[in-house]
Amino acid sequence: MLHLPPEQQQGFYRYSPMGLKQRGPARLFAHIGEDGTLGYGLTQIYQNLIEQGRISPPLSLLMQWIESTLQRIRQQLDKLSTLLADVEFLHSDWLNWTLPPGETFSSEYVRDRRAMGQILTSASKAAIAARLQDDSPFLIETRLRTLQKRQSLSPKDLASGSERQRLRFYAELEQRQRDRPKVSLIHSRDGELSDREFARQRLAGTNPMILHRLREADRERLQLWSTQDYSLATGETVNVLDAAAQDRLFLADYPLFQDLTSTDLQLGRYVGNPQALFYRTEQGLYPVLIQVESGSHWVTPTVAADDWMRAKLYTQAADMTHHELIDHLCNTHLSMEAFAIATSRQLPVGHPLYQLLRPHFRFLLAINTRGNTLLLAEDAAIEELLAPTREASVSLINQSYRERPFTDAAFPNDIAKRGLEPEYLPDFAYRDDAQLLWEAIATYVSSYLQRYYRDDTAVLLDPYLQAWAAELGQPLSDRPLNEFPELPSWLPAGFAAKTGIRVESLPDYPRVPHFPSINSTNQRLGEIQGLQQLIDIATHIIFTCGPQHAAVNFSQFDYAGYAPNAPLATYARPDMAVPLEEVLPSPEQDLKQMELTFALSGIIWGKLGDSQLIRYEEEGDRQILRQFQLRLESVELEIQQRNQQRLNRDGVDYPYLLPSRIPNSINI
Ligand SMILES: [Fe+2]
Repeated sequence: MLHLPPEQQQGFYRYSPMGLKQRGPARLFAHIGEDGTLGYGLTQIYQNLIEQGRISPPLSLLMQWIESTLQRIRQQLDKLSTLLADVEFLHSDWLNWTLPPGETFSSEYVRDRRAMGQILTSASKAAIAARLQDDSPFLIETRLRTLQKRQSLSPKDLASGSERQRLRFYAELEQRQRDRPKVSLIHSRDGELSDREFARQRLAGTNPMILHRLREADRERLQLWSTQDYSLATGETVNVLDAAAQDRLFLADYPLFQDLTSTDLQLGRYVGNPQALFYRTEQGLYPVLIQVESGSHWVTPTVAADDWMRAKLYTQAADMTHHELIDHLCNTHLSMEAFAIATSRQLPVGHPLYQLLRPHFRFLLAINTRGNTLLLAEDAAIEELLAPTREASVSLINQSYRERPFTDAAFPNDIAKRGLEPEYLPDFAYRDDAQLLWEAIATYVSSYLQRYYRDDTAVLLDPYLQAWAAELGQPLSDRPLNEFPELPSWLPAGFAAKTGIRVESLPDYPRVPHFPSINSTNQRLGEIQGLQQLIDIATHIIFTCGPQHAAVNFSQFDYAGYAPNAPLATYARPDMAVPLEEVLPSPEQDLKQMELTFALSGIIWGKLGDSQLIRYEEEGDRQILRQFQLRLESVELEIQQRNQQRLNRDGVDYPYLLPSRIPNSINI
């Protein structure tokens, strides 16, 4: 096994000390300078001097001026790098200031991205032109074509600027062999967001990660809702206590948002914690009621149509907000970053676990760094389109991250925890397809790791593997201070101590909450006790980087690329009886939502299990990889068959977990 001393490996992979303080997901150091520490050091020195009252007023003013100037320069650089992100030479390591060497996008990836960007630009330009002009010959033609295709489009839709804009955007995409959002066709079929479709999206839409079965622990809220029976869109009547006893009741709720106050929200935009109750009929799920805020009244499918639709839209907006911040960004992109960094810091490149995992982290650090600019920076997408402020969004991510134990997130555990086993919910597209992929990955990982670890003792005695686990799972305070940022060595000795910048103590929590699970009394956190536990961990990581990210990422344009289905925020308070147009985004915001969701799901780069990306040197390993590829081919066929049945039954398929459409890593 090739041995590299840890200090050689650790040099370029450091955690951001800000992330450590916030107890959030790992972030790579985002500062420029020697190993990233210089920028951090100077900022900290300035802050410490202010806190100690050791800066005189004129000096303070000067420092403020320098800080704001640096801030402006940084923002300009961010904008420039975003604008020029698709220029290939900017991705060479020569011009890479924020990532470790070898972590930047490849030319091939940048070319794919640029092609997608060109499609997006032309669709946006055409959409704006369509919105600004009245009935142009093109528009009339588009409407006629759409009417012919869909056989229905309400006159209200035709009159709306947003709808004109959308139709043109989609037409432009179709001219370039890109599909319009699936859900826009479903809305045309149903005339609006129907109850059936609203329920179906809990299981096969962008966010299948929220719904759970109501059980004994939920008795209190059931009692609250049990004062009446409810009529469904199907005509059936539901008694909630009877239905719960039959395990037919399911809930979508968003408790993470329950404490958001008006200062956490942007002016004029709203999100909260709606609770949507569903009943499983013989024809599938249907909504029973929606309580838009806890403590408030609830509405049912039998109230005035606009009141019911507003409640559905409020739920859809909460669902999308949760999806973007938590289920997509936090639980895939950011949570995997800790593993990507620890793998490079602790495992020698020839180590079997490094060889197994590393291809699944390709471009993860690069896309997350880019995400900092495109999504999380000031005036970036999250601040422009979601309801929570940027600060509130970041603290929601941190809160959610530390509340979820690592093992709970593993696919089979997540399904069990939510009580969504097939006996309670026979038809659940995400679960059914993900199960095939989880099993395929588990078999592959198991065969591979069994070649290197004969038994549990071999796992326990591997010092590299245990160091990797310790970095992820043990409290940071157990680790030596010199692993964390200090000033560069060329600064005068003692300077750091005087200014109070040196990290004095490390927090008493680990990078990954409760990693791994504790299976016996003599096991410690941050220790892998046996081969099966290692197999489970590696399966979980590869599943998250591949299928899980694919499920929540590539469905975005299909369901949120059409704002009347799922606005990223609502624009009227949930208790305001305003026309539906006032709940939905303005045409400008509507376009930005289409652009963002298209850009986030616009390229599929690098196929799961591809030999071009996973290059084992050992023939035995390559054979195991070939077995995995064959298994994925049979999964592909099985999902294709299922999709045919889904098309016949629901008029819509679930293509996001077709192995041919799952990238090998999180890279968009
Ligand atoms: Fe993504």
